[in-house]
Amino acid sequence: MSKNHVITATMAGATLLLAVAAWRTDAQRGDPPSQTSTILGQALPGLTEEQQQAFSEGLQKFSTVETREEGLGPVFNGTTCAECHKAGAIGGAGIDLTISRVTRIGGIRNGVYSDLTDFGGPVLQARSLKEFDTSCPIDGENIPRQSNRANIFASLRITTPLFGVGLIEAIPAETILARTRQNDPDGVQGVANIQMNPETGKKEVGRFGWKSQHSSLHRFSGDAYLNEMGITSQFFPDDNLPQGKPIPPGWETVPDDDIDEDVEAFTTFMRLLAPPGRLLPLTPQVQEGERLFQQIRCTSCHIPEMKTGANPIAALSKQSVPLYSDLLVHRMGRNLADGIQQGLAQGDQFRTAPLWGASRRRFFLHDGRANNVEEAILHHGGEATASRDRFTRLQERDKAALRAFIHSL
Ligand code: HEC
Ligand code: HEC
Repeated sequence: MSKNHVITATMAGATLLLAVAAWRTDAQRGDPPSQTSTILGQALPGLTEEQQQAFSEGLQKFSTVETREEGLGPVFNGTTCAECHKAGAIGGAGIDLTISRVTRIGGIRNGVYSDLTDFGGPVLQARSLKEFDTSCPIDGENIPRQSNRANIFASLRITTPLFGVGLIEAIPAETILARTRQNDPDGVQGVANIQMNPETGKKEVGRFGWKSQHSSLHRFSGDAYLNEMGITSQFFPDDNLPQGKPIPPGWETVPDDDIDEDVEAFTTFMRLLAPPGRLLPLTPQVQEGERLFQQIRCTSCHIPEMKTGANPIAALSKQSVPLYSDLLVHRMGRNLADGIQQGLAQGDQFRTAPLWGASRRRFFLHDGRANNVEEAILHHGGEATASRDRFTRLQERDKAALRAFIHSL
């Protein structure tokens, strides 16, 4: 793949140019420890020609700018998946804290948690087709302003990178379930966000999203197509109602039939997207940081490696996945709690954020409140309190080593 991708797309008569420079680093001087390249956005190594072709087609669909004629809106946050997922390469995290940071709302009504669909929840769509056609009678949505705001939670969520998510999907559920525990000396527990997947009719272990709210990439794709772009599909057939109100006639016209093909294509692209390779060389300082990371028990949650099971796609079969996460949700304390419930994940529970690729990230934690690794660590609370306190007590030299380790991922 070339160093620079240029996507040109025609949108409402205007040409949108998205130039995305693939990330390059000094570390590319060394040999990668595994087959995985440090250049982001490539396909997994070892794909068949047919799989490589499917990856390219998926990338194309993932980067296509949708229009009203293709089902976009009437309210939406982005016009293409790649609008938010593009840091480093297509598929990456968000590049800033504007459109790629979305708002999720929820609230308690009569003692029961609600997605607040009547206020436009669970995800607000900040934009509408008014951008392209002033006759559109609907505006994008803001956090609802009404008198009993105390019962409404609004949580900002930054865009997560998708590099290596196919490997995460291929980890057997039992491997994840085996990590939940009760008698940890630090009080670390972890809950698997198990939910019924309506697409398979089975209970599955969640692994994607800030609260491990989805178990499959296909499911996440349909959800994102609906909630970020306003495009319905087989398993997400109902349009978002802006502020809970019905969509005015004539502003939603496209049947779902062709849409499932897109959802399949996004899924294939993401499934075959290579993980972020580790930056080299591994200096003595990095190695010391890695030792400390284990010693102060960051590894209780940020598990260095899991393995995929047998998989029909050879490149995903029996592979090591150096993700630095257990994919469980943990109670993280009041400071991080956002009140939002998703499946079994409660308001203060979050998925252990995978740390692979952390060197190429600019914002950290679910709402992007941390600008660097150290800030992110200091915000840890709840089950991570003991581990965080051990970090705080480290000498500056050791803190620097630990940071260097995370910056090598
Ligand atoms: C407006 C910005 C935006 C657009 C457009 C967007 N996403 Fe996302 N994406 C996000 C955010 C924010 C998250 C984190 C959501 C959460 O967990 O609350 C996310 C997370 C994901 C994840 C979970 C990855 C992980 O780390 O577990 C997948 C998969 C995904 N998006 C796929 C897609 C696909 C496919 C499309 C296009 C149909 C898309 N996204 C369009 C913002 C966006
Ligand atoms: C109890 C489990 C747990 C422990 C122990 C833990 N973490 Fe975390 N970590 C998390 C969770 C959960 C998040 C995501 C929190 C959020 O987004 O609100 C996270 C997020 C992070 C992030 C930000 C990543 C991102 O994508 O935004 C970094 C960096 C990090 N942890 C480093 C560490 C370090 C270093 C230690 C040891 C001092 C540590 N963590 C210990 C659970 C843990």
